[in-house]
Order: sequence, then structure tokens, then C-alpha cells
Amino acid sequence: MESIALAAADKPARYRELLPQLAALLDGEPDLIANLANTVAALRACVPAASWLGFYVVRGGELVLGPFQGKVACVRIAFGRGVCGTAAAEQKTLIVPDVEQFPGHIACDAGSRSEIVVPITRSGRSGERGEVVAVLDLDSYDLAAFDDADAAGLAPIAELLGTLAW
Ligand code: SME
Repeated sequence: MESIALAAADKPARYRELLPQLAALLDGEPDLIANLANTVAALRACVPAASWLGFYVVRGGELVLGPFQGKVACVRIAFGRGVCGTAAAEQKTLIVPDVEQFPGHIACDAGSRSEIVVPITRSGRSGERGEVVAVLDLDSYDLAAFDDADAAGLAPIAELLGTLAW
């Protein structure tokens, strides 16, 4: 197994470099847990600003902790609660530059200052909007660590993940 190789320093280029390597890493492997675990490891190499990154997977109408890297975290989050639950309920990427300014933010790690949450929707037939199957959550100890470059870089990754066997 080759490791993830990222040479670029700027965020857009790092995400661009990651995408084909991640696609290759997931290609041909049907196991969801293995694929999510390798995805968080690859993303950790790509996003040094993240103190915690991982998945919350939709299970029985709520979000349940999935593969992640970082400190132990909250296990269950209701739709509409916190940043993760809001991103899932609204089916949109949320960039939170200062978590203290986000009403209802769930503080799993008191050191977290900012985050980005990207919903993953199951790929449907063309033209159909699939349902949310998970969210990808990245947290940072720095204020305003994530911006539009992260949202743009993570969007095709979320699309790729939507094709997994959820
Ligand atoms: N910050 C998230 C909770 C998840 S943890 O930080 C890992 C939220 O408010 O949704």
C-alpha cells in the first residue's frame, strides 16, 4: 500500500492532489467501514489544520459516530442538533469560523474553535437528489481554520463518498 503523497502547500492544490489518490484507495473495495477509515487517514494527511476529523453516519434517524481520527467524541447527534445535525438536516455544507458563535454547538472537545461539516448524499440516478447518509466533520483548535477552499476541495470528495455502499 502506497501512502498518500501530497506535495502542494496551498489548500486547493492539496485537495486536488488528494482526490485521485483517494479514488484509487477506495476503488474495488466494497467494505464501507474500511473505506471510511482509510478516507479519514488520507484526509488527515491532507488537512493539517484539523484536530479531529471523521464521519457521523445516519443510523435509525440520527447521526452515529463513525470512523474518525482524534480524541474520543460524542457518539449520537440528533438531526438538527449542533453543527453536524444542522448540516445533515439542511443538506448543506456549514463552515463555522467560531464555534462559540454557533447556537447549539456540541462541544465534544473544549479545545475546538472552528469546524466544517459536509453532508454526504447517496448517489442516485442522474438528476435525483439522494438522501443524506452521513456527514464529514472536520474540527480545528484554530479559529477560522476552514473556508471556501475547504468547502470546494471537500465537495468532490463528498461526491465520491456518496458512491460507497452505505
Ligand atoms: N462539533 C460537532 C460535534 C461533533 S464533535 O466536535 C466531534 C457539532 O456541533 O456538531
